[in-house]
Amino acid sequence: MPDHSAPNAPRWTREQVEHLLATETFRYHRIELGYGLATEGRDRSNTARQIFPDDLTGKSVLDLGCSEGALCFEAARRGASRVMGLDVEPDTIRKNKLKAECLGLDVEFGTVDLERDTLTEKFDFVLCLNVLHHLTNPLSVLNSLTEVADERLILEMASLGPHDRRRLGILPLFGNLLAKAPIIYVGKTPTRGRKLKRFFITPGAIHNILVHHRRIYARVDIKKSEHKDRFIATAHRRKIGHLVVVAGPVGIGLDRFCTNITRGGYPEVAEKLALPADTMLLDSTPGRPQHRAHLDTAVIGYDIMRAFMRTGNVYSRDDNLDILSCAEKITYVTLWTAPEKLRKQLTDSRFGYGTFKRPSKRERRIYFSYENPAEIVGHYDGWFDYLETRNDDQVILDMSPDVPQFIDRTAWSKIAASLRS
Ligand SMILES: C[S@@+](CC[C@H](N)C(=O)[O-])C[C@H]1O[C@@H](n2cnc3c(N)ncnc32)[C@H](O)[C@@H]1O
Repeated sequence: MPDHSAPNAPRWTREQVEHLLATETFRYHRIELGYGLATEGRDRSNTARQIFPDDLTGKSVLDLGCSEGALCFEAARRGASRVMGLDVEPDTIRKNKLKAECLGLDVEFGTVDLERDTLTEKFDFVLCLNVLHHLTNPLSVLNSLTEVADERLILEMASLGPHDRRRLGILPLFGNLLAKAPIIYVGKTPTRGRKLKRFFITPGAIHNILVHHRRIYARVDIKKSEHKDRFIATAHRRKIGHLVVVAGPVGIGLDRFCTNITRGGYPEVAEKLALPADTMLLDSTPGRPQHRAHLDTAVIGYDIMRAFMRTGNVYSRDDNLDILSCAEKITYVTLWTAPEKLRKQLTDSRFGYGTFKRPSKRERRIYFSYENPAEIVGHYDGWFDYLETRNDDQVILDMSPDVPQFIDRTAWSKIAASLRS
């Protein structure tokens, strides 16, 4: 394991280091260059301890908006197999390369404009500290970060703490409420000559975006940052060996089926799908065992009517399906049942005696759509068309008999043809 207590011996002589410090300006990060000499700036070693394990052997690390590179050097000292620091300022990058040479640390530095350039290469740890709140479109950049962060995405961000609230002119009580809500507050920049951040993103907002909208993260750990009014969010990307996606229209009993199959019900089905006894049912409830980022086998339910009457009415745009990118192997189990049974189940669960919630306009529209078997078949057609675009295993399970039966696509097509006519 690398020894992080001792700063590594610099490659440069004392005279070279002194010359560097005398001829170049450093103002953002304090970096020890040996001989008791260091650049001017903030010491980021506490942050490094908060975000990195002691040993990064075998891990790749990308620091976006790395500025003077303190965290890149910390990652390299912790034994990371590859470290890259990117920033929009070319001169900062030029000086970072000098420091890497001086320290004899293998860190690649380069320029990037996070709002214009496309990131393609994946890294285990992706850092974006104190950058998002300065950008013009932080959500779009956050999305592209999720594409390249293979294991952990680490963000440091401005929230709405007391210091910033005062500068924004927000009353304390109102500010406290805002800070607890999942919101993105848009600030003015600059205000009365003082530069303010453009955006204040609360921990709740980050959690909802990463864990609930995009189920690709198992959890987000929030820590207080040593910067005033900031927090550090570490998002843990899911990795699933075998993901079983149980899909079907609302009313078919998805939740019940998923719960049963992960609790030992439907043993023949579980056997055919090679589901071990400890298969997890995924949802995003914190504190549950599926909160673990790495799972061998997991089941999720997917309502194929999710896109129905909603904007962006196509499966490929549904961020609830982003979780597919976390799985090595995927099997889709599409549940089918006779139309009259489906309609009855929907009536019983949503509209029947004893249900007090008034159905929404959308729910009523689904209910009427179920009156026509050809329309039900049409919903399945859309789902199967989507599955054609994916190169994964799929099976169809007919839930009409007392014991569900697998049917193949040809058998389903025959049923569908008879219902269309
Ligand atoms: C406030 S500093 C944070 C530096 C470092 N990440 C830290 O937390 O100590 C923000 C950094 O983001 C960089 N930056 C700003 N806009 C950027 C963009 N569009 N693309 C890449 N880097 C950007 C700035 O040059 C600056 O170095």
